[in-house]
Amino acid sequence: MKTIRQHLGWKLFISYVIIIVVGVVSLAITAELHTPTAISRHMAEMVPMMGGSMGMMADLTESFTQTVNEVLLVAASLAFVAAVLVSTFVTRRIVKPVQEMKTASQRIADGRYEERVQVNGEDELAELGRSFNRMAHELAQTEERRRQLIGDVAHELRTPLSSIKSVMEGLQDGVLDSEPETFANVEREVSRLQRLVRDLEELSRAEAGQIQLEKELVNPKELVETAVARLHPQFADKQVSLETHYSPDQPTITADPAMMTQVLLNLLGNALQYTPPGGQVTVQCSVSSKQLPVNNEHYLPNTDHCLLITVTDTGIGLTAEQLPHIFERFYRVDKSRSRAGGGSGIGLTISKHLVEAHNGRLIATSPGLNQGSTFTIILPVA
Ligand SMILES: Nc1ncnc2c1ncn2[C@@H]1O[C@H](COP(=O)(O)OP(=O)(O)OP(=O)(O)O)[C@@H](O)[C@H]1O
Ligand SMILES: [Mg+2]
Repeated sequence: MKTIRQHLGWKLFISYVIIIVVGVVSLAITAELHTPTAISRHMAEMVPMMGGSMGMMADLTESFTQTVNEVLLVAASLAFVAAVLVSTFVTRRIVKPVQEMKTASQRIADGRYEERVQVNGEDELAELGRSFNRMAHELAQTEERRRQLIGDVAHELRTPLSSIKSVMEGLQDGVLDSEPETFANVEREVSRLQRLVRDLEELSRAEAGQIQLEKELVNPKELVETAVARLHPQFADKQVSLETHYSPDQPTITADPAMMTQVLLNLLGNALQYTPPGGQVTVQCSVSSKQLPVNNEHYLPNTDHCLLITVTDTGIGLTAEQLPHIFERFYRVDKSRSRAGGGSGIGLTISKHLVEAHNGRLIATSPGLNQGSTFTIILPVA
């Protein structure tokens, strides 16, 4: 009984057999009930004409019933053979792909993400097979990203840790003197580690969609002014000029001011980092109607107007090959250059998540290498 319950093939076969049995039994009963009456009626009329007796009538009735029973037996046997053949065929068509999917899913559960099932035809089973393969592909990609993330994090931790270790060893061996400069180096590396950990925490929250926004009505000009004021000393130090422009009709937006300030600080920080001394960074705040300047892909639904905050620099720019990757976590155009500056390639990833949590978009454009770049925050207007 257990095997029958476990196998779709057996269940199909039994359902066919039940149909055959019901058909045969009902035919037999109907024949049994109706034949004598029908035959008697005809015989009663025919026998006197043919000059036969009542015994002949009984004989005829019995041989007719026997013939009907034989025919039923042959038909039932043929139907039984057909049931065996059809259920075997249907089982192959239905059960085999299902079993293949079961095996594949077990392999995937064991970590073999390259597993796929063969898809034939267009029916629901084929559709299921295709979605199964899509799911396997997504799982493989997630796994790949997870592996990459661990690798990246380990890589990011290695540099500051080995630098701290070598300073410590130098101090222990007496190769290094315990001067303020030595401790300042260690402190710098520790700060870098702290920043990395903080960024990672934020990144994981952002990627899990767990950013808690404390939205309020804010004036975008105030946001920009706050960020600009905070970075002004660094711009002055590097001799990069920083300008702001506001269109006259500044709208208010519903946003979390702390989060939006962080995005602006990230963008301004990048603009400063990737612009050589003597360069210029411009922040512009304007309102756009539904049709956005960059391309329609960045069109925001559910809003008539958008606020655009652009941060344009005259720095090292980005090539068309680099542009699509800069929002990926840990992506840095030039690993060595950015590392010296302390960048870990997470800033833009977090910024993009933060802007998207506000139902906005963050996009980057650049005419090419050494021709500067522009980052645009697009936000729906309240
Ligand atoms: N304004 C810019 N001009 C040129 N390249 C840029 C600019 N902003 C970002 N990039 C490129 O995009 C990469 C990713 O930027 P992102 O801000 O995510 O990381 P980062 O600045 O390297 O590190 P951090 O996580 O500290 O911000 C940078 O490493 C840089 O190569
Ligand atoms: Mg950055």
